[in-house]
Amino acid sequence: MQSENIYILAIESSCDDTACAVLHNNVVLSNVVATQKIHEQYGGVVPELASRAHQQSIVPVVDSALKQANIYKEQLSAIAFTSGPGLMGSLLVGVSFAKSLAMALDIPLIDVNHMQGHLLAHFIKDKDNPIPTFPFLGLTISGGHTQIVKVTDYFKMEVIGETIDDAIGEAFDKSAKTLGLPYPGGPLIDKYAKLGNPKAFPFTKPKVADLNFSFSGFKTAVLYFIQKQTKENPDFIKENLNDICASIQYTLVEIILAKLKKAVIQTGIKTIAVGGGVSANSGIRKMLQSTEKRFGWKVHIPKFEYTTDNAGMIGITGYYKYLNQDFSDLSITANSRAKI
Ligand code: KG4
Ligand code: ZN
Repeated sequence: MQSENIYILAIESSCDDTACAVLHNNVVLSNVVATQKIHEQYGGVVPELASRAHQQSIVPVVDSALKQANIYKEQLSAIAFTSGPGLMGSLLVGVSFAKSLAMALDIPLIDVNHMQGHLLAHFIKDKDNPIPTFPFLGLTISGGHTQIVKVTDYFKMEVIGETIDDAIGEAFDKSAKTLGLPYPGGPLIDKYAKLGNPKAFPFTKPKVADLNFSFSGFKTAVLYFIQKQTKENPDFIKENLNDICASIQYTLVEIILAKLKKAVIQTGIKTIAVGGGVSANSGIRKMLQSTEKRFGWKVHIPKFEYTTDNAGMIGITGYYKYLNQDFSDLSITANSRAKI
């Protein structure tokens, strides 16, 4: 098998980003993302609008990824695409497009699990970020997911903890909404938290067994707290925004740290690889970086463009599947509830 000159075109359309990347082996040549702004006015992702926006964006996004990579489609070795988990209508746009392209070019089709993609994003060649060594614990934190995964090889992954309700990104975004901040509010909570006192307003942490997470009670606690305080003082949010944000962020960071500590004890694995949009959070980054000194852990955080939803991560997963000759046939379809 020729393994030196593999060109993969990858498509990611599982949620509200239409993304396409072109890779040469483990090197990303182009990584294009069209983020759908339409959802901002609704305070969250509207599935039907997401599917329609994918349909509008997919051709220009793929075209621009090929142009930026300076590659003709005839040079491609395979087409990789996200088959799930995600929003059904959104996934179907990517699946149909990938199938048609693979068929037209008569090259293999590779289906990729989105969550595996987040974890294998760490294997994209990047001079600033060394790749993790197996085994490691993958922590995937975003608007759609919160998982701790034991990764022993490229495709040997076991979910050892996950949220039983909301994702951590939703906890950030819904708390922000309660404070009257626009969607997505996570980055704004981060911004104001930098100026506030994290111990100003103690929020109770959820008690969830094992390595699982729960954030819906936290979101409600923030809502009730704000309702009570604004009843007494209508200017409560305005007068305390920094402290409220710092306290929310502090609690969420502590929840993640407690579960990670437990996972490290349980597995004996001290290498942590983080993915998902919430890994951009400065409190989470500071906490993770501090564990290297405090506990002797090794923490990997990839470049920002490879932590949020992107097609580079789908491409690198496609590359390793290509090396295993693990191809899909044309009967493959989207699976919105796909598991790792
Ligand atoms: O990975 P991503 O782009 O998309 C998915 O949800 O899959 O993650 C988006 C999530 C949103 O909930 C957003 O509020 C959150 O990541 N986020 C942040 C920060 N930047 C993005 N949350 C907290 N602090 C940030 N700096
Ligand atoms: Zn994701």
